[in-house]
Amino acid sequence: MIITMDGPAGAGKSSVARALARRVGFRFLDTGAMYRAVALAGLRAGVDWSRPDALARLAEKLHIEVDGDRTLLDGEDVTAAVRHPDVTAATRYAADNARVRDRLVALQRRLAAGEDVVTEGRDQGTVAFPDAQLKIFLTASPEERARRRLRDLERQGERASFDEVLAQQAQRDREDAARPVGTLRRAPDAVEVDTDGMPFDAVVDRLVELVNARRQT
Ligand code: DC
Repeated sequence: MIITMDGPAGAGKSSVARALARRVGFRFLDTGAMYRAVALAGLRAGVDWSRPDALARLAEKLHIEVDGDRTLLDGEDVTAAVRHPDVTAATRYAADNARVRDRLVALQRRLAAGEDVVTEGRDQGTVAFPDAQLKIFLTASPEERARRRLRDLERQGERASFDEVLAQQAQRDREDAARPVGTLRRAPDAVEVDTDGMPFDAVVDRLVELVNARRQT
């Protein structure tokens, strides 16, 4: 069974998808980490971002593995490296690149074939797995998403202001919505879950209920 989880940055998709996968005993697929890994490889190779074909050619040679919570790039553990702000900023070059997307979507489908997975990203229910048995679109208001992000940053000992976080998030929302390929949008058959004011555990409980209901049909 395939469960897709899409939604805007900061809606809590990763933690929710991870917790859901654990609760229902499914594998978790972090597809954002794949785009981040391509961006990291591009940065390291000094790729010219104005030449999408150069990044696509590089991506075609990479061996990317997402194994539970770890991301491996040509066998090297890059789990922490792909979260670096420079990589986050460069990831849009990978995400906007049609050839990179084709390759990563093919990889996602291979990894999910015959498995029970919760797969998380922006285009999982629309492009990668249009026939998924359960599609979830996780949202929250921009202010709530920024508040959560700020709390995460503070927990990591980083300083930022609410306005800064809100502005960066608005920028990522614009990029996700304007992307020529793999645009973030809710699949018509996705269940939208608005998590504003909902405690984390309540969100996961609600999703487990959805999975159980779907398993019975
Ligand atoms: O979820 P994340 O922050 O790790 O995603 C990193 C970037 O990759 C983000 O800018 C959106 C993009 N992305 C994408 O275009 N398609 C996906 N399936 C997953 C992520």
